[in-house]
Amino acid sequence: MPHTFQSGDYSISLGDLRSTFKAWLHTRDYSQLYIITDENTHRACLPVFREKTELPDWVKVAKIPAGEHFKSLDTCQAIWQQMLDTQLDRKALVVNLGGGVIGDMGGFCAATWKRGVDFIQIPTTLLAMTDAAIGGKLGIDFQGVKNTIGVFKNPAAVFADPDFLKTLPEREWRSGFAEVIKHALIGDPELWQRLQSEAVTGSHHLTDKWYDILRASIAVKVRVVQEDPLEKGLRAILNFGHTIGHAVESCFLETDNPITHGEAVAVGMVCESWIGNLGKLEEVIAVIKSHFPHRPVPESAFPGIWNLMHQDKKNVAGKVRMTLPGAEPFSMRILEPDRQVVEQSLLFYNESSS
Ligand SMILES: NC(=O)c1ccc[n+]([C@@H]2O[C@H](COP(=O)([O-])OP(=O)(O)OC[C@H]3O[C@@H](n4cnc5c(N)ncnc54)[C@H](O)[C@@H]3O)[C@@H](O)[C@H]2O)c1
Repeated sequence: MPHTFQSGDYSISLGDLRSTFKAWLHTRDYSQLYIITDENTHRACLPVFREKTELPDWVKVAKIPAGEHFKSLDTCQAIWQQMLDTQLDRKALVVNLGGGVIGDMGGFCAATWKRGVDFIQIPTTLLAMTDAAIGGKLGIDFQGVKNTIGVFKNPAAVFADPDFLKTLPEREWRSGFAEVIKHALIGDPELWQRLQSEAVTGSHHLTDKWYDILRASIAVKVRVVQEDPLEKGLRAILNFGHTIGHAVESCFLETDNPITHGEAVAVGMVCESWIGNLGKLEEVIAVIKSHFPHRPVPESAFPGIWNLMHQDKKNVAGKVRMTLPGAEPFSMRILEPDRQVVEQSLLFYNESSS
């Protein structure tokens, strides 16, 4: 049975697209559909999407290169160019079929096309289902700095169909799992308990157990963005692990061995839990150690990481700010660590998680 969440003026449906998306589309009157995919979701997800939705073959599909590296102005330009060639009008619907990169960038292109056309998110990664597709934050990276250009605009709807996860590579499962851990820590003690006591990742994905975990994780994100849609307060809690994590991710982005968003957030959660003296530090390390590869951060990268942390959108008056879960679910603490503490936390990660 599909499960539906309401978040402001749009709904998030968890379940088979046959019973969620199809019924929704019938209630709408769009002039055109324009599907944005990357090369992997074009191959792995588009056939499933077509089969489940029975959309006609003539629906226009964009295919862009996969990966964070292409979440850029150049790719947006290619998408806008295709929208122009397709004569996409203001009553069209943009369908973002992919992970967080497609959702953020496709949403941004739609939100700015002719001052905004409707778009829907059809997340195909664990990370996008539980996090990126919900909450209307859209954008791209700029000059190597993550999510620097963007807007807030809610999708017309979100349709999360767990069937898409069947083709997700193991590394991407883990990447999404970092956000599930984050959600458990900030808002769902029961889920956190579960993540510690049960083996939840591995080749046995997509059991009923996973459906429950998806539902619980989505519920945390929905509650936070509903309370604070424009990130004036509580929403900053979703950045737990991301102040250091984003900088680590950007730092590795241009190397031969980039790390996934979730792997970087896992590093960030350990570091930030250490800085904030989080009561659950030992448990956090244990869960992360059992699900993530150890990715030591070279000391030569520390200055670059600190510089990148200065670009963080949460900073005020030149001070680096990070958010940590408070004592109660859905409460938070704000810290302003200095450079030395951040570097010590990275050393702590290097030693503790090996
Ligand atoms: N907007 C937000 O609130 C928010 C929140 C968290 C993260 N994000 C953003 O999300 C992005 C990371 O998202 P992601 O981890 O989904 O990355 P991604 O979109 O790059 O997807 C990861 C990889 O998996 C492939 N893939 C996607 N679905 C697949 C499937 N079903 N089968 C096989 N391969 C598949 C993709 O082609 C890609 O290679 C980052 O850019 C991050 O900034 C945004």
